[in-house]
Amino acid sequence: MTKSQTIKAHDLSFELMLSEEKILARVEEMGKELNERYVSKNPIFLGVLNGAFIFMADLARAFEGPCEVSFIKLSSYSGLESTGDVATVIGLTTDVENRHVIVVEDIIDTGKTMHDFLPVLKKMNPASVAFATFLLKPDAIKYEFPIDYIGFEIPNKFVIGYGLDYSEAARNLRGIYQLK
Ligand code: IMP
Ligand code: MG
Repeated sequence: MTKSQTIKAHDLSFELMLSEEKILARVEEMGKELNERYVSKNPIFLGVLNGAFIFMADLARAFEGPCEVSFIKLSSYSGLESTGDVATVIGLTTDVENRHVIVVEDIIDTGKTMHDFLPVLKKMNPASVAFATFLLKPDAIKYEFPIDYIGFEIPNKFVIGYGLDYSEAARNLRGIYQLK
């Protein structure tokens, strides 16, 4: 979809924060970082729906080794805010025992979603777990856990595009846009 500097989603206006060019260059670099650790390990990229679907597609293709791709669906956001409750909407169907798992997130905001999911994942006895997030809001983090791969650190602003939504709108924007 569109490449303009300012866009509307539902009732709100947003302005460009990260261009498509900048995003794709960074995701390529992240793929190279993943190659170093995982190229011969046949990792499982485990994407968190819905937001991670575009980042997942680009990151998995930037990675140069064999890999598998799977998704889970967790939900804590309603409109512009985290509700604090994380619900599993679609559970993990892939057997991760003794496998290297890279959890792929669109954005880590408070950290609640991943903090709650980590023990559930660890119970399934993966060989290792790493987190790759496209965006991180360092000023919003409330739950600490190790984040291994970070695309961009951004200010504590509500953003949309590249998979991220505002009440399900704007996921297909090529750039990242911040609330005006
Ligand atoms: P956390 O549990 O607070 O870290 O929230 C993580 C989830 O909330 C992300 O996977 C997103 O789906 C959603 N989220 C957090 N910040 C934003 C934002 O700025 N725009 C859109 N969705 C967001
Ligand atoms: Mg998400």
